[in-house]
Formats: sequence, C-alpha cells, structure tokens
Amino acid sequence: MTKDIDSKSGKIIGILGGGQLGSMLAIAASKLGLKTHIYSSSKDSPAFNYSTKYTIADYDDEIALKNFIKEIDIATIEFENIPEQTLNYISDYVPLYPNKESIFLSQDRFLEKNFIRENSIDVADFMPINNIDDIKKWDFNLRPGILKTRKFGYDGKGQKIVTTAKMCEKYFIEMNNSPCIIEEVVPFNMEVSTITARSQDGSIEMFEPSRNIHKNHILHTSNIPSGLSNALIEKLHAISKLIISKLNYIGVLSIEFFITNNNIMVNEIAPRVHNSGHWTMDGANISQFEQHIRAISNLPIVEPKTLHSLEMLNIIGNDIYYWEKSNDNEVRKIHIYGKKGIKSGRKLGHVNSIKKSKS
Ligand SMILES: Nc1ncnc2c1ncn2[C@@H]1O[C@H](COP(=O)(O)OP(=O)(O)O)[C@@H](O)[C@H]1O
Ligand SMILES: [Mg+2]
Repeated sequence: MTKDIDSKSGKIIGILGGGQLGSMLAIAASKLGLKTHIYSSSKDSPAFNYSTKYTIADYDDEIALKNFIKEIDIATIEFENIPEQTLNYISDYVPLYPNKESIFLSQDRFLEKNFIRENSIDVADFMPINNIDDIKKWDFNLRPGILKTRKFGYDGKGQKIVTTAKMCEKYFIEMNNSPCIIEEVVPFNMEVSTITARSQDGSIEMFEPSRNIHKNHILHTSNIPSGLSNALIEKLHAISKLIISKLNYIGVLSIEFFITNNNIMVNEIAPRVHNSGHWTMDGANISQFEQHIRAISNLPIVEPKTLHSLEMLNIIGNDIYYWEKSNDNEVRKIHIYGKKGIKSGRKLGHVNSIKKSKS
C-alpha cells in the first residue's frame, strides 16, 4: 500500500526502514527542503509521521519495490538487515548510498571482521562456527568466548558468553545451527564510537568520539567529551577515515571501538546513522542526520563542532521519562519516538542532558 500524502514533484529520498532513525532522517531532510519516501514492512512505523510519502510492504515485494524506485531519486537505509536481492534491485535503478557492498559487509560479522583485519586494524580474535565440529577448534581451556550469529544480531540479540564447548554447542543448536562466529572476550576499559561522513567528492568530516556505556548489551549512555587523550582521538579518526575510504562509502558511517590498556580494537561497523550519535542533535553545530542527508544529496557536508558537554541517555522499555528530573546544572532535551507499545528492551526515546558551563 502506498499512501500519497503530498504528490508534488521534487527530489525525493527513498529510505528503507521506518524506525526512529528513519524519523530523524526524514525530519533532517525536510529542514533542508527535501522530500522523503519511507519504505517499511511495519504498519506502525514511527517514521511515517514525518515523511512526505510512505509504503507499507515487505522488503521482497517486487511490485511495491518497482513503484518505490519510480518515485525516488536516491535511496538510503536506516537499518542494515535488508535482503540482498532488494538492495541489488534498488541499486540497479537509483543511486543507493551507502553502496550495497558496504551494507552486505556489515550484515555479516564474519565478513566484517575479516575486512577489518585485512586492513591491518585490530579486532578481537575470532573464528567462524559454521557447524558443530568447528566448535572443537576453539580452546576453551585457554579462554571463554562470545558466540554471535553472523547475521541479524542487534542490541546484544543473538549472542551468548560461552565457557565450555558443551555450552557453546547448546547455544549453537538453540540458534538453529545458524552460521556464527566465536570471539574472545575483550577486557576493555572503555567503549567509544565514531561518526564519520564522506561526501560524493570524497571529502571526510568527523564528529568527536563519544564514550558509550552499554547495559545488557544495549546502549545506555553516550558522553561527550569522551575523556580520551588527543593522541587516541587522532588514532580513532585515522582508523575511521581509512575504513570509510576503503569502502568508497558515501553518507554517515558509524564505528564502535573497544579501548584496552594499550590497544584500540574495532568492535563493529554500522552503515548508517547510529544511536551513539544522537548527542549531535543538541550538542553540535550539525546533527548526524543532516550530515547524512547532505552527503547523499550531494550538498556540502559540514565540519562538525561540539557546542556542549553532554550525556545522551536512552529511554528503554519501562524506563520512566526523565524530564521531571532536570536540575540546575543541566538542560534536558527530550526526544520520544512515538512507537506503538512498550516492550522490554525497546528503544522508546532518548534524552540529551546538556551540562551548563559554570560561570
Ligand atoms: N568480544 C567482546 N568482548 C567484550 N564485550 C563485548 C564483546 N562483544 C560484544 N560485547 C559487548 O556487547 C555489546 C553488543 O555487542 P555487539 O557486537 O556490538 O553487537 P550488537 O550488534 O548487538 O550491537 C558491545 O557493545 C559490548 O558491550
Ligand atoms: Mg554494537
């Protein structure tokens, strides 16, 4: 079903996915005078509230996809788990940013970690578990591991810490024998992430890294500044620039890192705007969403400047909303996504708490 809210012609950005990232991309596009068309399989997609048009159809619905590509000038994504055939089809007809190869890479943890390692960037030691026999190759006497499905994992779903081969076998079977990786447990001091944008002319701009704290494998807070030394920040920037250039990537790319005593490791990459970049909406001269829309629409990207120290806090599941708790030392900016139904672990909104400078 396609709902035509506004049939005026003009440049239209097609966005695959209708969650909160889609909403915030659509809002950023409209502020730049651009129209959006959200394509989502869920009738309750919050992003429909903000886009010019929307389509409700499965991601492999050929007729709906055909109509979608007729109406859009460029396409982008707000989540990475879109079927390969759909991405192939769309990119045959309209420019898809980021390119499908970058999306395929990030859909599969094994390919992703290989790519990082091949580029001489550190990752946690890992190996593929494609069948029960592969489990024997990991020496559990030496160290435990984290079993992660190669595909479709997010917010810690599809991963388990395993301390014995028996336990690993049990979880592998529970995961329906789907291809997995096992990786070492990294004793990190800190998790950080970078948000990098690359434009069509190849120029690159970066936000400063945020320090991220996860609870139950789900992002809980992101803090700016991260407290990292300038030398470490430069290293994070250099790694991010290398990755985005190697991928020939256009748009915003997010990279999660582990910082250990003497090392920086890439944890994973997300070919899109990212939860840990939500602070940019209230703490920087440009948001990650506007930066992405600019990059893919061939508008100049902006050199990010941090305006405030702040903490981004996710509102998850049954968390209470935090606006009542503001105090004199901070200004709280609330963003509620308008999702239907509260579910444990579901991201319902976020709060950016700007720290007031002491004068
Ligand atoms: N190898 C690891 N060592 C230590 N902690 C890990 C490891 N892998 C994942 N984690 C923890 O779990 C979180 C989620 O894992 P991640 O691999 O990023 O998957 P997701 O796709 O669910 O975000 C990480 O941010 C980190 O806190
Ligand atoms: Mg992650």
